[in-house]
Amino acid sequence: MRGRTAHPIKLAVFGQPVAHSLSPRIHRMFGEQTGIAVDYKAIESEPDELAARLSAFREDGGCGANLTVPLKEIGLRLCSAIEPVARRARAVNTLKAAEDGWHGYNTDGAGLVLDLERLGLDLAGKRVLVVGAGGAVAGILEPLLDMNPERICLLNRTPERARRLADKFAHRGHIEAAALEDGPGEMPCDLLIQSTSAGHTGTTLTLDRQWLTDEASAYDLNYGAVHAAFAGWCRDNDLPVHDGLGMLVGQAALAFETWTGRRPAISPVLEKLRA
Ligand code: ATR
Repeated sequence: MRGRTAHPIKLAVFGQPVAHSLSPRIHRMFGEQTGIAVDYKAIESEPDELAARLSAFREDGGCGANLTVPLKEIGLRLCSAIEPVARRARAVNTLKAAEDGWHGYNTDGAGLVLDLERLGLDLAGKRVLVVGAGGAVAGILEPLLDMNPERICLLNRTPERARRLADKFAHRGHIEAAALEDGPGEMPCDLLIQSTSAGHTGTTLTLDRQWLTDEASAYDLNYGAVHAAFAGWCRDNDLPVHDGLGMLVGQAALAFETWTGRRPAISPVLEKLRA
């Protein structure tokens, strides 16, 4: 094809389950957009198989990989170098082949920031309510704090987990933790970021509309069926909400840039995925 590199770059996402991952489609679209020929596969892997599968992939010419659930933490141990953001998040979602092994990155948080910017959600001086304190939150706190919110309030069902994370990132900005049932305190927040796995497990997430200002909006890190219950709560409570599909495409665009030096545009890919 005209304008394309002769040999496709070999990329893959590893995870379990990974068959329904949108990443192969997204990266193929990035390839078309940038004129870079891409061969991107989805490879099923148990955590204890990852080292062997990555080696085999590398021997077969693999030069870049994404790791998804449940491999992001274990992937850290397989890297010869890890960028600071990924080290602090204790998770890697992007690997790049280098002479001394795999170099690890975490583009999840920066992908969220790209999407918030695309949506015109400027967090500077705003109060942000983050609900959940699991692995997903560990990856987004530093990039969110770098957007200079007035404060982040981290609520979690198990408050100790929220406190641990808040302590870890306290040097980057104003962040406080509380039990979910206690809410964010006196001052209502401007943005709610839904980061729990309640949608995955089908359990009920109890939130209070009064924790948010009248003009507030919400962002769910989830998309598709897993987003439905939270979307319903937002609709019932007159709260505009965005799903996490844009974050997925954002983190992918940053991974693609790590591998190729080219940052693809997010919006056209998002439009096609939603069509
Ligand atoms: P992930 O990697 O997706 O963040 P995780 O590390 O298992 O997954 O974290 C799941 C998060 O969702 C946790 O913050 C969990 O709260 P606990 O720490 O108290 O377990 C939260 N969560 C899951 N279901 C929930 C529910 N029904 N209500 C409130 N929080 C819930």
